[in-house]
Amino acid sequence: MTDSPDTPLKIAALLRERGTLRLDQQGSAEWRRVTEASLEEYRDHHQAGDYPPAILETMSMFEGFIAKWAGIWEQRSMIDLGCGIGTALPPYVRNIAETMDYAGLDPLDENPDRDYAFICGRLEDLAEQLKDEKFGLAVFATSLDHFEDARNALTLAANLTDGGHVIIWSGVHDSPLIARSELSTRIIDLCQKHRNALTRILAFWLYSTLTWPRVAWHLTRRERKLATGKPLDNLHFHYFTENGLKTLLEDIGTMHEFTQCPGLNAVFAAVTITQETK
Ligand SMILES: C[S@@+](CC[C@H](N)C(=O)[O-])C[C@H]1O[C@@H](n2cnc3c(N)ncnc32)[C@H](O)[C@@H]1O
Repeated sequence: MTDSPDTPLKIAALLRERGTLRLDQQGSAEWRRVTEASLEEYRDHHQAGDYPPAILETMSMFEGFIAKWAGIWEQRSMIDLGCGIGTALPPYVRNIAETMDYAGLDPLDENPDRDYAFICGRLEDLAEQLKDEKFGLAVFATSLDHFEDARNALTLAANLTDGGHVIIWSGVHDSPLIARSELSTRIIDLCQKHRNALTRILAFWLYSTLTWPRVAWHLTRRERKLATGKPLDNLHFHYFTENGLKTLLEDIGTMHEFTQCPGLNAVFAAVTITQETK
């Protein structure tokens, strides 16, 4: 538990000793319902380490992206906002945590004893506390779309750092990107299963006859829903599009890099946030 709002949290000791801090948690009932709805999936992924190969590859690329920007900004510590529930370090920081001080923060109170410095609480709860030290940079790894107010989360994150440096990995849900990643996986699969030219032609023909109309219908429905600005499921508060996320980041700071992961609907961004919190 936190001592009192006037006693600064001992971030320097937390990082040095790889300890655990627990914050008094606020948060609306709706936020808690949405956040806890993914617990089973998080147990498989974060705790059991059972990630699909494409996610592991993206994590490895993201680790390189963090390392690059930490080097450019000359920063030596980071806070991972929404780090998940695993006891082991998230795969996207396993190498870099050997050379940078790392702390994870997550409100889900599972696995309190972790192999890394851990703050159990929400970003919004941490932002309200005095702290004896700031972090070098803040990271959102597939977590920004889980915050009720993404713009506020970004500015709160920037205030936790010395220079406003924030690194983001987020899914974007524009239908051409979804179509590209889903279809390329399916085509790779068809090619691997059908090595012979004739069966391959047949498989492609069957696939296009049966699947293309369904894909076209699905994409149109997705575009219509995205245009309303609402999330496409009840596990997230946002479903970003590439332009929507870019516009948000450019609006609150300087975007140094915004890069699309080849073949996937994921983007990485490096931003220095200059806007004040509400
Ligand atoms: C999809 S998981 C990402 C986990 C990990 N970063 C990864 O990429 O494997 C999103 C995480 O954001 C956390 N989260 C949701 N709302 C939050 C908040 N207000 N403050 C901090 N973390 C939050 C959830 O508890 C969840 O663990």
